[in-house]
Parts: sequence; structure tokens; C-alpha cells
Amino acid sequence: MEKATAIAPSNIAFIKYWGRENPELNIPKNGSLSVNLDQLHTTTTVEFSPDYQRDQIIINGHEDETEAKRAIKHLDKIRLLAGITEQAKVVSENNFPTGSGLASSASGFAALSVAGAKAAGLNLSERELSTLARLGSGSASRSIPDGFVEWVKGSSHENSYAYSLYPPDYWDIKALAVIVSLDKKKMGSVEGHSLVDTSIYYGVRIVHMDGKIAHLKEAMAEKDFKTFGEIVEAEAVDLHVIAMTSNPPLFYWKGASIEAMEACRELRDGGTLAYFTFDAGPQPVVFCQGKDAQTVAERLKSITAVKDLIVNEPGIGARVVDTHLF
Ligand code: DP6
Repeated sequence: MEKATAIAPSNIAFIKYWGRENPELNIPKNGSLSVNLDQLHTTTTVEFSPDYQRDQIIINGHEDETEAKRAIKHLDKIRLLAGITEQAKVVSENNFPTGSGLASSASGFAALSVAGAKAAGLNLSERELSTLARLGSGSASRSIPDGFVEWVKGSSHENSYAYSLYPPDYWDIKALAVIVSLDKKKMGSVEGHSLVDTSIYYGVRIVHMDGKIAHLKEAMAEKDFKTFGEIVEAEAVDLHVIAMTSNPPLFYWKGASIEAMEACRELRDGGTLAYFTFDAGPQPVVFCQGKDAQTVAERLKSITAVKDLIVNEPGIGARVVDTHLF
């Protein structure tokens, strides 16, 4: 069996996945919409071989037991699909800090799925790769297709998948990933998903979800950046309201996160459209139109706690490459 390597982008959701209908299969409570981030990615090489005595998982040069467990569970699914029993060596590199709130599980499981499937001799369609990636991490399903992506909620393993709504060059928008903290997250999204029903507001969120998705898709179809931004911002706040009102409560924002929100409002008051979102972490991701990227980046960099800022364009999805990591 040949080794195989894949690169997969991280993605940032406009409409978030928060809460699962089926925790085993990562079937979400609602559909979601996202864009791939072209500057943030994971590269993964997988090789199955009778020479390996155990699965060995090396992520960013280290073997970590918790991460290895999750990856091996995913390899088991690939082995089952391919009807093979060989152990594997997996080497994976992120070009951004793991656990910092930039979604490494999305790019990580998308890359592992594409490289793993190829190394196991499977020939899967994009849709099948998306469902496979979803089993590893829900948001990873959205890192398989190109550009602007919709993850259809679905009701079974086969029909909960992501597909490309528009290619990367459809819309000249930028996603500025602002690094305000490099602390490892204390509370990841795995716990957050399982706590949603403890928030009294979660039912209200879900009732509005289909309408919100339809409204945002309309704004995207019309390239109406203002409406798009207003929906995206309100959606991020909505997610954090659920998180903060869960039991135990999850507070992800830091002081600099709030400062970034204020900077967006201030930019808008001055006529520059900029809108924030947040995943389950403190790092803001700010959307703006291509022509405004410089102005928005400068304003965000003026926040004292901002350590780094990565300007992303909409990116292509996961793909096989022929340069291996070992
Ligand atoms: C807040 O995909 O990380 O980033 O399925 O447990 O791996 P698992 O969850 P994950 O959840 C992502 C949560 C989010 C919102 C989003 O990306 O849609």
C-alpha cells in the first residue's frame, strides 16, 4: 500500500454548528455555512503497513495520547471501510497553533480523512469524504469542498454532508484571524456541544436556525456584504449566549475579544464595513471586503493584546498532494 498525503484548510463558520442530534455520528442540530481559510491548514501523511506494530500518530512533532486516541478511532473507521487491518503511521503538521481557537480539528480530520482514505486504497467521492471527515469532527466535513460551503444537517450518516455553494473566487472578501491569546483552550467544543440543552435559550436558537440560514444564503447570492455581516455577527453572539448560559457556563471571550468587537463597530461608524465572528475560543475572525483589508488590519493591530493577525482569502478544500512528510 502506498503512503498518501493531503492538505486541508481550516474553515470559519458564518452559521455555527453548536449541539448535536446524534453525538456518535456528529449529526448536528442545525445546518451550517462556512468559508475555507486559505492561510490556515493541516498537512497529513498516512501509511498503512504490515511492518507497523501499532498506530503511531505524530502531530506537530509530538505524540499526544488524547489526540492519538481520537485519530486512531478515525483510522479504525477507514480500515473498516477499506476492509484492511494494517496499523498506520500518521504524521501531521498544522501551520498554526493547535488548541488556540483556530479550528485545528476541522483541518486535521479533513486532512486525515483524505490522506487516510487514499492510503487505504479507497476511492471516495467528495460527498463521501465529507461524511467521513464529519465522523472525526463535525466541522471537518466543511473543510472538504471548495470555497463557500454549506453543511446540510441531514438525518443519517449518508445525508449529513457538506458541499460547495460557491468557488473561492466567487466573492472578494477577507477573513482576518486575530490572535489575542495562545493559551491552550480549557474547554473545547466537544464539551460545549453536549451542554447546549442546559441553556434555557437553546430552544429559541434552534427555532430560528432555518430562517437564518435561508436569509444568509440570500445575502451571499446577492453579495450583499452589509446584510451578510449583520447576520454573521448576530449569529456569533447567539452562540456565545448559549455557551455563557450553559451549566457549567462557558466564557470564551477575553478583554481583547471585546476590544475587537468595539473596533468593528468603530470601523463601521467610520464607513468601513467590518464584522466579527468567534468560534469556541477567544480569537475574533473579522470579515471585510478585499478593498478594506488594509484599513481593518491596521485598526485591529492597534489593540495592545493582539499578537498576530492572519489575512485569509476564501480557499480551496482538502486535496491530495504528492510531497510526503516522511
Ligand atoms: C464553535 O467541529 O470542533 O467551531 O464535532 O466535537 O469536533 P466536534 O466539534 P467541532 O465544533 C465546532 C464548533 C464551532 C462552530 C463551527 O465551526 O461551526
